[in-house]
Amino acid sequence: MAFRLNREVEDLFITKILEKRELHHLDREFMLGKISLYCEKNQKACRKFAETPLTRIKKAKFAEDLVRFVRKEAHVCYGMYLTKTIVKAPQIVHDLEKLAKQSAVHVVNKDKLSFLHHQLLLLHLSTQERLHLYPQVYHDLFAITGRPRKIFDLGCGFNGISLFYSHLTDLVYTGCEFNQKDVDLLNQYFRAIKKISTIDGKAVKIDLIKHPEAVAQHSADVVFAYKIFDLFPSTVVETILKNLQCKWIIASFPIKNLNRRLMHAPRRAGFQKMMRRLGYTYKTLTYDTELFYIFEQHQRD
Ligand SMILES: C[S@@+](CC[C@H](N)C(=O)[O-])C[C@H]1O[C@@H](n2cnc3c(N)ncnc32)[C@H](O)[C@@H]1O
Repeated sequence: MAFRLNREVEDLFITKILEKRELHHLDREFMLGKISLYCEKNQKACRKFAETPLTRIKKAKFAEDLVRFVRKEAHVCYGMYLTKTIVKAPQIVHDLEKLAKQSAVHVVNKDKLSFLHHQLLLLHLSTQERLHLYPQVYHDLFAITGRPRKIFDLGCGFNGISLFYSHLTDLVYTGCEFNQKDVDLLNQYFRAIKKISTIDGKAVKIDLIKHPEAVAQHSADVVFAYKIFDLFPSTVVETILKNLQCKWIIASFPIKNLNRRLMHAPRRAGFQKMMRRLGYTYKTLTYDTELFYIFEQHQRD
């Protein structure tokens, strides 16, 4: 059974962890999982949590270690993609709601609409980095796959918001993310633009590491898997790929390392091999920051 602290101590740690603004959207469930992991590894420290009064835990060095551990874990799989300005997201979506309410489909203030999308996409580092590329990337990708009617986006971040630059109409889009606050924000965004767009979008909560087989419930023409496969163990990636219900998979990978230098060998050889084994052929497109594989499925093993 997972190790649990008492509720007051958990709340204390969670408040402390969330003081970092870029972790603002983190799920309680995620943090409890990592707190439990820390406690399993550091049973002596955890006995101290149980024995020490709350007011003293607040200042204790052993408590700082736990906070640091959870933040580090969160940073690797989540926080490093969000900017500190993520706290502005609800206000921007609210401004979009107001704009949509005031507009009829053909008389929407396009400059304001574009400005608000731009602001939202700046809040997530992946979409921020791709912002200058989106129109070209969409043009190039759909020249290969054809115009999709249905897209499923894995570990979507704010990527669904970029469909604004795709010129796609009559599209059904589903993005999946693993924390509830992002899912809620994306759903609020899609509800806001419904009146002024023909994109029928929604977000669902899926933890792809815990439930990789859950992707089978979301059939699509095209699946986006942008910058996520490097984050998961290869067994998880393979389970996801085997369960996807689609003709095309577009998977992208960063081509610069953490020092912003170009990687010597940006192609993912192991991944290419796995995809060939699973019956896919592929083309690639390379831009200044990202490599895209466009996989077409022909047959399953
Ligand atoms: C590098 S970002 C890429 C975001 C988006 N695909 C893009 O390229 O614009 C990785 C994303 O994967 C999400 N993520 C990380 N672990 C996840 C998991 N176990 N299940 C679902 N999503 C996850 C993160 O929240 C983050 O938004």
